[in-house]
Amino acid sequence: MFSTEFLDLPPLQSASGTITLPGSKSISNRVLLLSALCQGTTVVHDILDSDDTRVMLAALRQLGCGVNEAGTTVTITGLGGQLQHTQPIEFFMGNAGTAMRPLTAALAVLGGDFTLKGVARMHERPIGDLVDALRLLGCHIEYLGNDGFPPLRIGKPTLKLDQPIQVRGDVSSQFLTALLMALPLAAKNRAIVIEVVGELISKPYIDITLNLLERFGIQVQRDGWQRFTIPAGSSYQSPKTIHVEADASSASYFIALGAIAADGPPVRIQGVGADSIQGDIRFMDAAAQMGAQITSGPNWLEVRRGAWPLKGIELDCNHIPDAAMTLAVMALYADSPTTLRNIASWRVKETDRIHAMATECRKLGAQVEESADWLKVYPLPKNQWKPASIHTYDDHRVAMCFSLAAFNAAHIPVRIEDPKCVAKTFPDYFEALFSITRADTPHIPVICIDGPTASGKGTLASRVAQALGYHYLDSGALYRITALAAIQTGLQLDAAHENTIADLARTLPVRFEGESVWLGSQDVSDAIRTEEAGMNASKVSVLPAVRTALVALQHSFQRLPGLLADGRDMGTVIFPHAPLKVYLTASAAQRAERRHKQLISKGISTTLDSLRADLEARDARDSNRSVAPLKPAQDALQLDNSQLSIEASVDQVLAWWRAKQPF
Ligand code: DC
Repeated sequence: MFSTEFLDLPPLQSASGTITLPGSKSISNRVLLLSALCQGTTVVHDILDSDDTRVMLAALRQLGCGVNEAGTTVTITGLGGQLQHTQPIEFFMGNAGTAMRPLTAALAVLGGDFTLKGVARMHERPIGDLVDALRLLGCHIEYLGNDGFPPLRIGKPTLKLDQPIQVRGDVSSQFLTALLMALPLAAKNRAIVIEVVGELISKPYIDITLNLLERFGIQVQRDGWQRFTIPAGSSYQSPKTIHVEADASSASYFIALGAIAADGPPVRIQGVGADSIQGDIRFMDAAAQMGAQITSGPNWLEVRRGAWPLKGIELDCNHIPDAAMTLAVMALYADSPTTLRNIASWRVKETDRIHAMATECRKLGAQVEESADWLKVYPLPKNQWKPASIHTYDDHRVAMCFSLAAFNAAHIPVRIEDPKCVAKTFPDYFEALFSITRADTPHIPVICIDGPTASGKGTLASRVAQALGYHYLDSGALYRITALAAIQTGLQLDAAHENTIADLARTLPVRFEGESVWLGSQDVSDAIRTEEAGMNASKVSVLPAVRTALVALQHSFQRLPGLLADGRDMGTVIFPHAPLKVYLTASAAQRAERRHKQLISKGISTTLDSLRADLEARDARDSNRSVAPLKPAQDALQLDNSQLSIEASVDQVLAWWRAKQPF
């Protein structure tokens, strides 16, 4: 997951390959709650690991359910419709509507002393229609803040179930879903009727609810979309095991990706097919109307570019409220305007999504019109795209939608602010995106950092890489590993063995995993960090054939979304066109002091004077050697960090980098 402040997407060129989608948020949270309301254990496979499901799991644990997590499988031991204990409980719902609404209903019917709170945005999301319906039913619910909104306090109910229960259906279908999941708890002796007042929106989500209730033993009778009857004698039965389908709303970004950028082999989406129980799968029809070529099997979709530019459409989006946001960004690539109608519910989602989509599309340069319940997006011609820093409103879908703007023909990068907000439904969204997209190599940014030994360039480079979400190449480590591999093979590190060492270097089975470095199945992280390993690296690094052999490996680190390259000839030989090169210096005295502290902390005894003498000797050798001498690239910016903390150095490099960006 990218937890950086922002993520800069370089201009992207094409897409193809296979991605496996994470589980559906809507199905995951419904299945978790239903499993909790059953008797006995339910094994839930392919559960989504995200903010929303974590909120639900935490709440279920607080209620006394057994929750056992193992990878994407969760085993829930249910309550059997009875609470274990009666102490007051305070639940924190974050911004998870799929947890807040159904839990409110279930807890209100079960009864107890419960407080439900969330983040500030959750306290702005309406829940009044659900509370009204539950109160009519005899539930005790108080508003702790503003009337009609969380936070809520729930007491013990005196259930009155003789009359049909009325609930409004035109603000959020989650209210009806919440009642449908809670009321089987009270239907032992009598049928319970729910009547929907007003037009029911987002009907496909009710279909998901009904489908899952059936899997848990509750056969709801449905008369149109107005009247739902839970038969007398209903009681939850665990299906024992259940698989969560992949998220059809998440599929929309990759369907769009195929339509926009798969002009060769297709984008293949694993985890949902056209027969999904999720309404958002119908996004594929809208995308096809805009030009996507889609084929499908039981659990997969394949998407290619068809019409190009895409075709503008006018569509009632009531049946695909979440996925329809993706159409707004596809509309930028169309030949005529696209109008998305009947989307008033967007205004009460994670953020006001009509406002968010309109504002951010405008930042990219597009003309957009909006009203209370529709949005019209005009195509964006190549010469009008503007570099934009996309604000994401803590809304996963805004972030994922706007990643698609990186395919613009103007080759302008797109900045996504707060990229970690995708964690709500798809924590590894950007990794998945990068795994099946390609950019022209010169578009993938590289920042080079070099400097004398012990200048702190490694720490600086890896911190800057972390701050930007970029890959990190420690080129010195490659020479250290080459030397180690050569010694392990019994080779002398001299010119006589140059070609043999070069052959070794060309096929090094090296892997960087977080802080550790692997050579084949051997963790060599510590072995390559000794002073001796540094000396050996220095010996192999003066052999020209070895340097040449490592070029391809070093180039292979230039991957999306960008690279921090640390080492000797990064800015001069390996990435001469890098847009930012930094040459880090510090006085020999300072460097000796830092190295001294480092060694002492590792329990290695040494003296400051000898370290300083060593460093000065090494500087002289490094600067005067004929092969790859230590010297700044001509266009490098010099940073003397003798008096700077590491944070201040990182900030300086980031400031230089930001100044070079168009945002
Ligand atoms: O940066 P370091 O201490 O890990 O480097 C080890 C040795 O490898 C050092 O002598 C410099 C050399 N080196 C090189 O010649 N070219 C590079 N790109 C990186 C390091």
